[in-house]
Amino acid sequence: MSDPLATPEHETTPDAEASAIAAVAQAAVEEADHAMRHWADPSPEPVKLGSPRHLSLFCNMLLQTHNPYKPAVIEWPQLSPEALGRVTSLPIWDIAVQTEGRASIRVETFAATVQEPLLRRALEMDGTEEARHKVVLSKLVQAYGIPLAPEPSYPPPDDPEWGWLVTGYSECIDSFFAFGLFAAAKRSGFFPAELVETFEPVIQEEGRHILFFVNWAAWYRRNLPWWRRPLFALKVARVWAFLIWERIGIARGIDPDGVAQDANFTMNGSAALGEALSPRSMIELCLAENERRMAGYDSRLLRPETVPRLARLARRLLR
Ligand SMILES: [Fe+2]
Ligand SMILES: [Fe+2]
Repeated sequence: MSDPLATPEHETTPDAEASAIAAVAQAAVEEADHAMRHWADPSPEPVKLGSPRHLSLFCNMLLQTHNPYKPAVIEWPQLSPEALGRVTSLPIWDIAVQTEGRASIRVETFAATVQEPLLRRALEMDGTEEARHKVVLSKLVQAYGIPLAPEPSYPPPDDPEWGWLVTGYSECIDSFFAFGLFAAAKRSGFFPAELVETFEPVIQEEGRHILFFVNWAAWYRRNLPWWRRPLFALKVARVWAFLIWERIGIARGIDPDGVAQDANFTMNGSAALGEALSPRSMIELCLAENERRMAGYDSRLLRPETVPRLARLARRLLR
């Protein structure tokens, strides 16, 4: 006769059940992570820039690679006192939280002006992801007891298109350098591996955003009547001038919006990250990371080119 207290073969112990659930959850997380990094439209035909097919290509890329993670359930890893000290003393948290706050209102404001339903949905998703970045950062700051300056308000921009262009092109600049800095921080152990892993999806999301943005810009320009194109080109030039001026201001510690108090991640980040990389190797790392992060998406989508091109030029000058 069998032992009545023994677990029958077809039943599982609570421990086994818990680890089975954890394994399923882990597999789901890995699947979502893979899905956010790899995407191609199934139909193989070439896509003409500016065409309706191009529009659906870049909108579907963004919509279908959305990773549904919930900031509320992120488990922030316990850090050693040294790692905690390094993370806490990084002069980036105020500016990072405020950048995400401004990005979400700018993207949402622009999304509300768009009539085309698919584009509007993609823009709304972009804005939601920016808002989520802000929540992730707030949770991180809370978890590690990082003090933040009081937050400003985030008024919607008077010109929604200007706000969208400023956010889009500034992400093209900042993400390019953030890719390299993040890799450097990971390599040098400045950020502990678990923290890198926890924060990784946010960085990849910015990669998707700039990919979406440069394709939108190409599509939009091609769909403007000829007489509006010079004005749009002028506006884009003004946006770049503004962004360069803004970054010079931040690097000097003067804040153009009168809100962010700390130094700019992309300008001063590499010095703070503790790895003595030469400017040249830093640029190489940014270029390699940029390529790696963009590699998984449909090759018919345009890649962000302006900043990598400038970086390659700088690399040549540093030789
Ligand atoms: Fe963001
Ligand atoms: Fe973004």
